[in-house]
Parts: sequence; structure tokens; C-alpha cells
Amino acid sequence: MAGNRTFTMIKPDAVESGNIGNILQMITDAGFAIKAMKYTQLSEEQAKKFYEVHAERPFYQELVDYMISGPIVAAILEKENAVADFRTLIGSTDPSEAAEGTIRKKYAESKAKNAVHGSDSDENAAIEGEFHFDSTEVVA
Ligand code: CMP
Repeated sequence: MAGNRTFTMIKPDAVESGNIGNILQMITDAGFAIKAMKYTQLSEEQAKKFYEVHAERPFYQELVDYMISGPIVAAILEKENAVADFRTLIGSTDPSEAAEGTIRKKYAESKAKNAVHGSDSDENAAIEGEFHFDSTEVVA
């Protein structure tokens, strides 16, 4: 059965361009409830660990440098079928390939600066949520 929680980050480009409010509006309009949320800036150590799975990719250091370049918003979201529905809402990694009406189509700059993160599986949603929040920071 599909899980009902996913994890997201509004990334530095979207924070810098003033789109936190617009993106949160799209998320709640799509039926996601916010269960935890934090405005923060990642350290290099945190970004490296979060994206460890991409450590061997050529864009790893670029990704880490970008993710620590400014503040982000991290959040745990709840909705039936959360992981898949959220990935539909955000659109393809590359905004030039993202569907009309998706968050990345509207607000992302490029494949690297792509406005938002969305977990790719229930397992990773749980791992990523726990990476950013302890249990006292998540509402029931
Ligand atoms: P995200 O889905 O958050 O997780 C992996 C990230 O790596 C992805 O978003 C992009 O920001 C980034 N990424 C993926 N492919 C590339 C690429 N070819 N060049 C630079 N960054 C990339």
C-alpha cells in the first residue's frame, strides 16, 4: 500500500526568487497537509549526507554547493498516495521537460536549480523526513 507522507524542500533558487508563498499555496491547494516545516540553511556536511546517494555523479559537488548557497524550507507533507502525487505536482527534474501547471514548470530555473525536492519512494520519504525533523517537531 502506498504511504501517505512525503518530504520536500523548497530549494535556494525558489526562496531567493520570492516564491515560498506561491509554492506552499500550490502544495496546500493540491490537498497536502503540512505536518512539519522549517526555514533553515544546510551546512556542507548536511547537504553531502542528504545527497550521499548521488556522490558518484558528476554534478554532486555542484548540487551540494547550490543546496548550501542560501536558505531552504524543509517540510513533511501528508496526503493519500503522497510520494507519487507530489512528484506529479512538482513535474520532471528538468523544468524544460516538466508538464504545464507543475511547480517546476512555473518556478524552476534549470535541472540543477529546480525549485523543489520531492522524495522518490516511501522509504526515502521516511529517511529524509527523519534527517530534518525529530519526532517532537512533527504534528500528529
Ligand atoms: P532532486 O530531485 O532534489 O534530487 C537530486 C538532484 O540532483 C535533483 O533534484 C537536481 O537538483 C540535481 N540534478 C539532477 N541531475 C542533474 C544534472 N544533470 N546537473 C545538475 N544537477 C542535477
